[in-house]
Amino acid sequence: MMLMKNLSNKRILLGVTGGIAAYKSAELVRRLRDQGAEVRVVMTRGACEFITPLTMQALSGRAVHTELLDHASESGMGHIELARWSDIVLVAPASANFIARLAHGLADDLLSTLCLATTAPVVIAPAMNQQMWTNSATQENIETLGRRSIKIIGPAEGAQACGEIGPGRMLEPEQLLQETAQIFSTGLLTDLKLTVTAGPTREAIDPVRYITNHSSGRMGYAVARAAVEAGASVTLISGPVAIDPPHRVRHISVDTADQMRDAVMLDIADSDIFIAAAAVADYRCADVAEQKIKKNSDDLNLVLQKTPDILAEVARLSRAPFTVGFAAETENLLVNAQLKLKNKNLDMIAANLVGEGLGFNVDENALQIFWVVGNQTQGNQILGNQTLEKAPKERLARQLIQIIANCYYEKKSAQENTIQENTTQVH
Ligand code: C5P
Repeated sequence: MMLMKNLSNKRILLGVTGGIAAYKSAELVRRLRDQGAEVRVVMTRGACEFITPLTMQALSGRAVHTELLDHASESGMGHIELARWSDIVLVAPASANFIARLAHGLADDLLSTLCLATTAPVVIAPAMNQQMWTNSATQENIETLGRRSIKIIGPAEGAQACGEIGPGRMLEPEQLLQETAQIFSTGLLTDLKLTVTAGPTREAIDPVRYITNHSSGRMGYAVARAAVEAGASVTLISGPVAIDPPHRVRHISVDTADQMRDAVMLDIADSDIFIAAAAVADYRCADVAEQKIKKNSDDLNLVLQKTPDILAEVARLSRAPFTVGFAAETENLLVNAQLKLKNKNLDMIAANLVGEGLGFNVDENALQIFWVVGNQTQGNQILGNQTLEKAPKERLARQLIQIIANCYYEKKSAQENTIQENTTQVH
């Protein structure tokens, strides 16, 4: 099957343990990168007997990590940073010994420590002699791992390097690739349509100058990508940014707040969810100068007027979709965010602090999310909330999409119950 580049921007930590199947991991690194993933390789001592770190370094384009307490790597990207960096930890091949150590929670080398320290999903592709695989010790360990939500992919049956035939062969790189991509596609938003805004807007002062802000568009683009992975059909309406649009989204480029508003209104009628991640300029020039303004005086006064509040307008629609706003604040984050949720009549708001190294134009972010529980009327709002700790925007976006999907369905079922109650009363 032909795969789209569906691992774009995914950070995959590939753990390689000692087994003859380690040679297939070299091909796997190449295939994962072809699909857009960033790959870092961690090898156990056993793995280094089968394949050299140099091979994996050349293929991954990154230094290979082998030691837990190596001064050079701990001061570069140490084990905790590696654990945090990963969107997924894929161990392929996973030997019987490694599986046993993982099942018992050992942390006596870099890879086993990482598996304990990460919050990312851990996936293992077992590879071993068929007797070792069917041995009840291994099977019990596999059961233990399954109970801990570690995903086990394979092994396949067939001829083995040791000359025996049976279960224990590691899956082929192509299958591992598909299984890995599968983990990122949740199906949470299947059959739903989303409209997402992202990036800054630009409001002209004269033909060469404009008012804008520091938004890079990364959060909105990550949200759009996560929504596609969750099965939604997505329109991404974006101000000017320097990043490529995700695959499989309908991408509309705009410059100004007015253009963004018009594009949203054209798209919104059949949308189920609206996510306003754009940093829309709040003001534009009342009159845009037709010619470049000359610097003839020491002061220059510009008269500004408010731009349309796109989010509030969408939330006011009679058949409004589930509306999610962002609140980027430099102070009083929680109070301001909750006020915005209420005043704009939103279903949910994602609040983040912006300033030095936070929020805009950086890779990581932290979000505090508030939402209206159930189908409450305004003025009597009950709030749910969740904090998403500082993490790469890609991961935050996936977590946010999960929360949005839960609340969307909760609201929908509350609405259906209300309709049912009203119909019963009429009868
Ligand atoms: O009121 P404030 O600009 O802080 O609200 C932020 C939220 O409102 C963001 O979700 C932003 O995308 C949206 N917004 C909008 N149109 C505007 C201003 C903000 O959609 N003109």
